Amino acid sequence: NFPNSIFELQNLTSLRLSSTDLSGRLDFHQFAKFKNLKYLDLSQNSLLSINFDSTADYFLPPNLKYLNLSSCNINSFPKFLAPLEDLVALDLSHNSICGSIPQWFHEKLLHSWNNISYINLSFNKLQGDLPIPPNGIQYFLVSNNELTGNIPSAICNASSLNILNLAHNNLTGQILQCLATFPSLLALDLQMNNLYGNILWNFSKGNALETIKLNSNQLDGPLPRSLAHCTNLEVLDLADNNIEDTFPHWLESLQELQVLSLRSNKFHGVITCFGAKHPFPRLRIFDVSNNNFSGPLPASYIKNFRGMVSVNDNQTGLKYMGNQDFYNDSVVVVMKSPYMKLDRILTIFTTIDLSNNMFEGELPKVIGQLHSLKGLNLSHNAITGTIPRSFGNLRNLEWLDLSWNRLKGEIPVALINLNFLAVLNLSQNRLEGIIPTGGQFNTFGNDSYGGNPMLCGFPLSKSCNKDEDWPPHSTYLHEESGFGWKAVAVGYACGLVFGMLLGYNVFMTGKPQWLARLVEGVLN
Ligand SMILES: *[C@@H]1O[C@H](CO)[C@@H](O)[C@H](O)[C@H]1NC(C)=O
Ligand SMILES: *[C@@H]1O[C@H](CO)[C@@H](O)[C@H](O)[C@H]1NC(C)=O
Ligand SMILES: *[C@@H]1O[C@H](CO)[C@@H](O)[C@H](O)[C@H]1NC(C)=O
Ligand SMILES: *[C@@H]1O[C@H](CO)[C@@H](O)[C@H](O)[C@H]1NC(C)=O
Ligand SMILES: *[C@@H]1O[C@H](CO)[C@@H](O)[C@H](O)[C@H]1NC(C)=O
Ligand SMILES: *[C@@H]1O[C@H](CO)[C@@H](O)[C@H](O)[C@H]1NC(C)=O
Ligand SMILES: *[C@@H]1O[C@H](CO)[C@@H](O)[C@H](O)[C@H]1NC(C)=O
Ligand SMILES: *[C@@H]1O[C@H](CO)[C@@H](O)[C@H](O)[C@H]1NC(C)=O
Repeated sequence: NFPNSIFELQNLTSLRLSSTDLSGRLDFHQFAKFKNLKYLDLSQNSLLSINFDSTADYFLPPNLKYLNLSSCNINSFPKFLAPLEDLVALDLSHNSICGSIPQWFHEKLLHSWNNISYINLSFNKLQGDLPIPPNGIQYFLVSNNELTGNIPSAICNASSLNILNLAHNNLTGQILQCLATFPSLLALDLQMNNLYGNILWNFSKGNALETIKLNSNQLDGPLPRSLAHCTNLEVLDLADNNIEDTFPHWLESLQELQVLSLRSNKFHGVITCFGAKHPFPRLRIFDVSNNNFSGPLPASYIKNFRGMVSVNDNQTGLKYMGNQDFYNDSVVVVMKSPYMKLDRILTIFTTIDLSNNMFEGELPKVIGQLHSLKGLNLSHNAITGTIPRSFGNLRNLEWLDLSWNRLKGEIPVALINLNFLAVLNLSQNRLEGIIPTGGQFNTFGNDSYGGNPMLCGFPLSKSCNKDEDWPPHSTYLHEESGFGWKAVAVGYACGLVFGMLLGYNVFMTGKPQWLARLVEGVLN
């Protein structure tokens, strides 16, 4: 039970009771007894029932500087904040506060709380206008609400912002240029709003931006060349807008860029290398799907995606991108549609999605060098030629979609080496011959191969005519994999989910042989 004896400690200055298992009932007005309280954290106490009277305004010691009431089941905007004189940090996130933000809060923010540096109102149901972040504030987080209207131009005064997160609201209007000039802004997240207009901003040289997320708005026009000034940029997500431009090859010299998503825009033209010696050296998520790119697949880039080549066997634990106290980098990837949102991006997650464009020409063999690649989607293009054997080296691949192209020839037997492959789609091509057996191939249904009238064998109902001259694949398989019939069992064991989980586990332990041993143990 919550120890009410705490309230006898009248000179208390700091009380941090976050994430406890305390239960019972806590009358919030008791905190008025602490005349000197400066720091109060009651966040995330799921068992504690905190009794707020959010209409009363005399509860808290006026000198309180830090207040964290995240996840406290508050459902209306707390009036007891109004008498506070010098708030520095306020967290009301993850409650169900609804309605518009009261006028006195806007006023306090702009005129009284001169030292305020952190405001977190995210994950509520706030409506109406966006509060104006005051000059001097560093963290302004109001994502996942129902705020409407424009981003007010007064935001330009908040030039010391480090993180501005207005994502997942209904904000409209143009995005103000001044945001590109804030010298210490690390993350600008305006995704999932109704913002429109172009983004021809002047990103200043030496800016600090690591994350720019403007996806799922209605932005148009070309991209500003000054984006190349964002030399610390790690995540650039412009997906689901109407941006019309050629491929921004002038971003290839960004040494830190790990996530580039241009999905579902009006990009067009050929993707060619601009001339950097090592273009996009750290890129791990490359998504240009649903555009109008043409010409050959960008082999010159692919062979330089060094961020996708090496499998880091020295991974002691999984790491996520971003400074997790203030901001988790997120991205939406298409993995076996519908869209999957990664709320946090694992630093080992690597995908290439070039689907739904007009790429033509052959599959470059160098793709086979991207050993840590987890997903490859080249579907809905006009790719010709055969599937290179080198694809069998993509040992970490979990999904491979080559459907709706003009691929011919046989499916390379080497693909049975892809032990983590959970989704394979080769349908609507001109592939021929016998479908390999063994490994994950024993788990794929006939919808992986539809629309290739010359393919035969399991799982298709068309059997291969023994009189024809197909190479004897099944004996070949035994010698090549060294697994024999047990490889077949591995295939049956790893379904979609299991296979993917196993993939991550192997990364963690750094011992791929572990899988083989586990399966042998089970079988014996
Ligand atoms: C609080 O502090 C004041 C002076 O600093 C002291 O006189 C008083 O005894 C303290 N109260 C308690 C309950 O410790
Ligand atoms: C910016 O701040 C200055 C000084 O605090 C103030 O005079 C001005 O009105 C503010 N600008 C806007 C657009 O609010
Ligand atoms: C895509 O580009 C081709 C020319 O390369 C053009 O004919 C076509 O209209 C474009 N499609 C769209 C949807 O913009
Ligand atoms: C793993 O990496 C750390 C630092 O990055 C290094 O100190 C350690 O020696 C490495 N371990 C192995 C087994 O390579
Ligand atoms: C980031 O994710 C972690 C783990 O889910 C969570 O503890 C942390 O609060 C998140 N940070 C933010 C700013 O949402
Ligand atoms: C590949 O991309 C297409 C079109 O963008 C999509 O429909 C399909 O689901 C994707 N395949 C996989 C396996 O994610
Ligand atoms: C492969 O793609 C085709 C056509 O896009 C679709 O009908 C089929 O369900 C897909 N198969 C798998 C296994 O995703
Ligand atoms: C695919 O499999 C389903 C049932 O699993 C079957 O009804 C269908 O005829 C098969 N299609 C082909 C082309 O083999």
